[in-house]
Amino acid sequence: MNVILINGSPRANGCTYTGLSIIKEQLAENGIDSTIYQVGNKPVIGCTACLACKKTGKCIHNDDLVNTVAEAMKDADGIIIGSAVHYASATGAVTSFLDRLFYSIPKEYLRLKFGACIVSCRRGGASATFDQLNKYFTISQMPVVSSSYWNQIHGNTPEEVYKDEEGVRTLRTLANNMAYLIKCKHASNIQMPQPLTGPMTNFIR
Ligand SMILES: Cc1cc2nc3c(=O)[nH]c(=O)nc-3n(C[C@H](O)[C@H](O)[C@H](O)COP(=O)(O)O)c2cc1C
Repeated sequence: MNVILINGSPRANGCTYTGLSIIKEQLAENGIDSTIYQVGNKPVIGCTACLACKKTGKCIHNDDLVNTVAEAMKDADGIIIGSAVHYASATGAVTSFLDRLFYSIPKEYLRLKFGACIVSCRRGGASATFDQLNKYFTISQMPVVSSSYWNQIHGNTPEEVYKDEEGVRTLRTLANNMAYLIKCKHASNIQMPQPLTGPMTNFIR
């Protein structure tokens, strides 16, 4: 059982990373493996809408971790996306990364796997960013795991993150809840529903 953790902050060892490390530790206490991928500290090109992925199942841009994470999702049980809050939104890098990941990845790598996000801010914009990131899961048939508060931690340095006791507790609860749900799924004999197919209808009238 394993979970993918994405650090979408430009600071590889900053507050978001600290939050993800707390989650990693808590998942391990529950017997769940996890890997942190550093995404936000390198340039990430946005989706160029070339639609090459519709033919190949991979993103045509290969200079970052989009295709690596997509492949890792094949065997993962869940994903937790972390972002610093930049102007009350997710970072530019993680937004570019997620647009390309969720558009190109084979849909069965995501369907009915668990998703969650955590956001790190100094002061404001956390819940707008939280809403933004959860949209990737809710269009992908991914159950969103929740916690005892919206998953946000406050601070400008890793030391300040640890002072946000309720924020740290929220992240630990999130990890416990995700671990529990993953174990329930593994323990169950219930078949996944068949995906429904049909035309995509645009708003043309
Ligand atoms: C370009 C930029 C924009 C930011 N915008 C916000 C913001 O809208 N609200 C906020 O509270 N903090 C903002 N911050 C501060 C960071 O979100 C905050 O320090 C965060 O905890 C940093 O996480 P990190 O160490 O993982 O990068 C901003 C920082 C930068 C560099």
